[in-house]
Amino acid sequence: MELLDGKKILGEIKLELSQKVQNYIQKGRRAPCLVAVLVGDDGASQTYVASKERNSIECGFTSRALRFDASMTEDALLLEIEKLNADPEVDGFIVQSPLPKHISAQRVFDAINPEKDVDGFNTINSGRLMKGMNSFVPATPLGIVELLKRYNIDTQGKHCVVIGRSDIVGRPMSILMSLPSQFGNATVTLCHSKTKDLKQFTLQADIIIAALGKPEFLTGDMVKDGAVVVDVGITRIDDNTKKSGFRLSGDVKFDEVAPKCSFITPVPGGVGLMTIASLLQNTMKAYEAKNNL
Ligand code: GUN
Repeated sequence: MELLDGKKILGEIKLELSQKVQNYIQKGRRAPCLVAVLVGDDGASQTYVASKERNSIECGFTSRALRFDASMTEDALLLEIEKLNADPEVDGFIVQSPLPKHISAQRVFDAINPEKDVDGFNTINSGRLMKGMNSFVPATPLGIVELLKRYNIDTQGKHCVVIGRSDIVGRPMSILMSLPSQFGNATVTLCHSKTKDLKQFTLQADIIIAALGKPEFLTGDMVKDGAVVVDVGITRIDDNTKKSGFRLSGDVKFDEVAPKCSFITPVPGGVGLMTIASLLQNTMKAYEAKNNL
């Protein structure tokens, strides 16, 4: 069993990006700029946004977070998005989800200029992905493909079972893995809460991507020997022995599943960090496209 080390790959990608940034700056250009918009005070979102900001800056990007109160109206948020769309200094921006209930997340994502939509949540980018066109791909599924790529994991003709059909992970993941490309071409089964006898599918899988958000859901008896297992879960579980008051739990029962795997991602230190890596790569892609580089 080998760990798919998100921390190591994030480090490699940050190094590649910072070298590009230095090169562009030496040529007299400004640095790429990523902005994160955060509405409300969800604890996990605050942590993610702070991490996105820190990692961007470590690559030499400029980055800032715009923080707004949970009572902000949808119209006020749409106005902020218009400003970011119009700002020539901003290459890409994201609106962190979840948003407060009174705001339509899809209306907000669709207000983002598709050229700056580095989270790939805009309907135009989703449509382009579906058609196999050049697009911004949501950072978590993109990060998973990058991780498989960097460990030379062959996906051609393999049976990939994705568990979970969210807009952010499961559904785009199933499309990416099925695309006719070097790191796609898999036979994909998309399982979800209404799937009957899930285990019959997971037991056939060469690659399992668990993205349902249920701690330790995938157990050893559900996985065949030699499978590649990617754990997207990051649920916070109360834990008084931790300084933060919680620990992170994946969707995979690691101790049972890991011994059966050829490769597996740890939680933390796996997919979560690859999400950041892909967001940074998408920001560089937006910057390069804008400047015809
Ligand atoms: N909420 C959970 N994951 C994500 C993400 O990748 N981007 C945004 N904007 N919100 C999220």
